[in-house]
Amino acid sequence: MTSYEKLLLENKAWAKEVEQEDPTFFKRLSALQTPEFLWIGCSDSRVPADKITGTQPGEIFVHRNIANMVVHTDVNLLSVLDYAVNHLKVRHVIVCGHYGCGGVKAAMGNQDFKPVLNMWLRNIKDVYHVHKTELDAIANEDDKTDRLVELNVKEQVSHLAQTSIIQRAWKNDNRPYLHGWVYGLKDGLIKPVMEVQPGAEIDPLYRYDDL
Ligand code: CO
Repeated sequence: MTSYEKLLLENKAWAKEVEQEDPTFFKRLSALQTPEFLWIGCSDSRVPADKITGTQPGEIFVHRNIANMVVHTDVNLLSVLDYAVNHLKVRHVIVCGHYGCGGVKAAMGNQDFKPVLNMWLRNIKDVYHVHKTELDAIANEDDKTDRLVELNVKEQVSHLAQTSIIQRAWKNDNRPYLHGWVYGLKDGLIKPVMEVQPGAEIDPLYRYDDL
């Protein structure tokens, strides 16, 4: 059996098991999804949103990219955010990074990853640049990476608050809460590093008045 055939076989077993435990599960979910959370995480295969939070299908709306970035010109991310906030009406948006992130590590180095990856990693380099003094003072490379992982998560949460999508939802619906979390590959635990309440003060430069 090939590796991908095993996936299909496992899928059959899983569907059967779920059906046996909860005969209306698929019927219910196929009719409606009402997730309370939007998860913006890293594409890293070791950080599956549902597994590490013990959630079931239907509970988390998910967007993942390299190093869990919120890039203002990323139509994919913004579409997911718009849909989650304005149509699914999620109450919480979580940006979850992880220690030892390969994307963050790559952005700290000088290797040429060729145009597209260079372009993506550039966004992380810019976060480093903002916190250069603090990060340059950390001698150990792993510690430096992990600190940048934390700072990057906070920066991406701030980017969320800077969008008109979030600001409009704050004004009209007093949600969503924004969360910055970091997952530990070594212990499986999530550390919250930031929380932003609806309507929080943000830098006036990024504030929209005519929402
Ligand atoms: Co990563």
